[in-house]
Amino acid sequence: MKTRGVALAAVAIALAIQLVRPARVNPPVQAGNTMADMVETPLAVHQILERACRDCHSHRTRWPWYSQVAPASWLLARHVSEGRQKMNLDDWKEEMSVKDICQETRVGSMPLKGYLALHPDAKLSGQEIQTLCSWSQRAVYR
Ligand code: HEC
Repeated sequence: MKTRGVALAAVAIALAIQLVRPARVNPPVQAGNTMADMVETPLAVHQILERACRDCHSHRTRWPWYSQVAPASWLLARHVSEGRQKMNLDDWKEEMSVKDICQETRVGSMPLKGYLALHPDAKLSGQEIQTLCSWSQRAVYR
């Protein structure tokens, strides 16, 4: 009887937390504001960033089904909102440096570990990190 009570309470809590739904917004991309509008971005670099970074650092997040389910939804929404604040490929700020892209990937801080666990295809090879780094060192600003 007691186990059943606990199980029912657990189900009730699991359902109740679903009521707190963070917004999942993909704001429109404005022409002229993207990183590629300001920094020359070769196709190879573009493809790496699209594959491994865009879900948290662009306005074109691909929200997976579990982003609808609390508590995962809360974590994902926070990562995307913090990620967009720090570096937004679709809303590039003067103060951002492409060198940070090299730095963060070289030390292995980006993509986030939890993301890699769910998206193994986002893992970057040494060669790809090198591609990002040599580009960032010689980046041409428009
Ligand atoms: C799962 C979401 C996620 C992915 C994928 C991701 N990032 Fe991030 N990124 C974040 C979050 C959250 C922050 C802010 C917190 C932090 O710095 O850890 C951040 C911060 C950054 C910063 C700013 C660091 C600082 O402290 O100023 C850079 C640069 C960055 N990411 C680059 C990248 C690059 C390059 C990729 C792809 C190779 C990438 N990120 C992939 C979530 C992500």
